[in-house]
Amino acid sequence: MIHFDFSGKAVLVTGSSRGIGAAILEHFAKAKALCLVNYLADPEGQNLKDAQETAARLTSAGAAAVHLFESDVSKFDSVAAMMQRIQAVAGGLDVLVCNAGILRDRTIRKMTSDDWNAVISTNLTGVFNCCKLGSEILRDGGRIVNIASIAGIVGFPGQANYSAAKAGVIAMSRVLAKELARRKITVNAIAPGVINTPILAGVKPEVVDSYIQQIPMGRLGEPADVANAVLFLASEESSYITGQVLPVTGGWH
Ligand code: NAI
Repeated sequence: MIHFDFSGKAVLVTGSSRGIGAAILEHFAKAKALCLVNYLADPEGQNLKDAQETAARLTSAGAAAVHLFESDVSKFDSVAAMMQRIQAVAGGLDVLVCNAGILRDRTIRKMTSDDWNAVISTNLTGVFNCCKLGSEILRDGGRIVNIASIAGIVGFPGQANYSAAKAGVIAMSRVLAKELARRKITVNAIAPGVINTPILAGVKPEVVDSYIQQIPMGRLGEPADVANAVLFLASEESSYITGQVLPVTGGWH
């Protein structure tokens, strides 16, 4: 059950064709928001297909309207074009959720500069691009919620690129909270633990099992667990909370 009402609010979630991003928008759809889906074009067209299926689910869930936007968050011009189209379609934004992210886990010995650059470009520069250009069309009183990771607080072997990017997202969120407070825009980060999504396909099953054994709640997180936290931080009720990091980890640290 969704307790919030986002009627009349335009919500963009980056990387929302699947996984946590799609779940976040489904929660906003149930709360009657105008849902803006962002997907990354891939040669096979899989992400567009996923985005179309997500859009159909958002409509059935109760979204006021649903629009799809192709954009690569790591590319400044691509994000600028998306924000212009959003301005034209929705007249601005009320909630921006920076969720798009990738993994390229390898120990520092094996990590190539391509692995480093790919993760920093999407997971850190992508958040900068979306926060900078998104804040230009965000209405006063709006919300930014950045999806960081517990990996940005605790270091895990094999994630030098990912942890550095997510720690950067947390630091950037704290800065933007101070810069945007005069417009009554709040900026917070969520630090999920291990969440059950397709991103885990790249993680060895025995590693996932070892994570579960360390989680006090005894299970992986579900995308809905993250979505519930996002809706709270995007709501009117959280208007005095800014510059914070909320772990959603089942008690794991
Ligand atoms: P996922 O792989 O299922 O979804 C990621 C989405 O981002 C996909 O739709 C993908 O197409 C999109 N994306 C990737 N590069 C993009 C780009 N350049 N431009 C636009 N979209 C792009 O992953 P998941 O698990 O849903 O992750 C979502 C976010 O949550 C990520 O930022 C991830 O780092 C974070 N997270 C995930 C955790 C997990 O255990 N699943 C734990 C902590 C954080």
